[in-house]
Amino acid sequence: MSDQPAPKPPDESFAGRLCDWQRRHGRHGLPWQASRDPYRVWLSEVMLQQTQVQTVIEYYQRFLESFPDLRALAEAPVERVMQLWSGLGYYSRARNLHRCAQRVVAEHGGCFPGSAVELARLPGIGRSTAAAIAAFCFGERAAILDGNVKRVFCRHFGIEGYPGERRVEQQLWAIAQRELPSEGVDTYTQGLMDLGASLCSRTRPQCSDCPVKASCCAQARGWQARLPAPRPARAYPQRECALLVIVRAGEVLLEQRPPAGIWGGLLSLPEAEPDALHSLARQAEQRFGLPIAQSLSLEPIRHAFTHFRLIAHPVLLRVADATRPPVAVDTECATTRWVAAHELAAQALPKPVRTLLLGLSLG
Ligand code: ADE
Repeated sequence: MSDQPAPKPPDESFAGRLCDWQRRHGRHGLPWQASRDPYRVWLSEVMLQQTQVQTVIEYYQRFLESFPDLRALAEAPVERVMQLWSGLGYYSRARNLHRCAQRVVAEHGGCFPGSAVELARLPGIGRSTAAAIAAFCFGERAAILDGNVKRVFCRHFGIEGYPGERRVEQQLWAIAQRELPSEGVDTYTQGLMDLGASLCSRTRPQCSDCPVKASCCAQARGWQARLPAPRPARAYPQRECALLVIVRAGEVLLEQRPPAGIWGGLLSLPEAEPDALHSLARQAEQRFGLPIAQSLSLEPIRHAFTHFRLIAHPVLLRVADATRPPVAVDTECATTRWVAAHELAAQALPKPVRTLLLGLSLG
């Protein structure tokens, strides 16, 4: 008789199959996976909240170069944080990131607290992000539930309601808690994220390769396109505005936005109520004391915010006398300044404004 212990039978639970799949097919080489340092994991999780891995990698690395540890981030001016965040979108994340770093330094001696419940009390760390940090850094059995995971659960467990609805979300949290394995929660958590980001995609799920297909409700019923249920139709309010692209001699006039509200704290283009081109040119002349020689309507920009849709109508307004030295103008509620075309990429601009300006020839 052999004295080798009998091999363990495969764990056929939902978590067991997912962990096995994660070890073989999941993502392993992502920069933040090399570390259990809560600072690095927190930074990556906040960046990943509404942004895809491929986009985040570069930002994550640049952030770490500028702020190698929590104290460096806490001590940095918020403008520098916003500048490095520029282009990632959802800028309240950057402001909360900075606030959170300062809170951890002030109230926790520079060390992140060691449980999901305490992490979730910090700015910008919701229940799911707190659980991800606690699972990855401390191995805590804490349940995550982000958008991708909701999709996996809705499909696998046949949850038919809209996941944004409170009752449905509570049901999903209960499932998330129930399915947690007793050990290996870090692999399980990464497996859920990986499955949601790859095979169990929104529009083209690859069910034939899925590790949990045998027990998946959507797969059995052919309901992959039906689950998760879409948000009940609701007309979003729509706002329109004109964006004044005032240029002179290779520079564009930008305006610092107030700290609160959309694009808070970012540098953007001056806005006006939509109007005829010649009226906008006249308004710009009056508002900024600049003679406009040439005006041109550009393609409208559509941008979806959480609670409304924006249609911005950019107008290119060229200042007449390019020989006068550039001026800085203070208006009542905002500060404007001239920025050279080659310096635009380094500014904290809202994404659609950045795309617009970098696509224009401002010479
Ligand atoms: N999305 C959210 N967190 C993630 C992580 N740690 N790895 C990959 N994708 C994620």
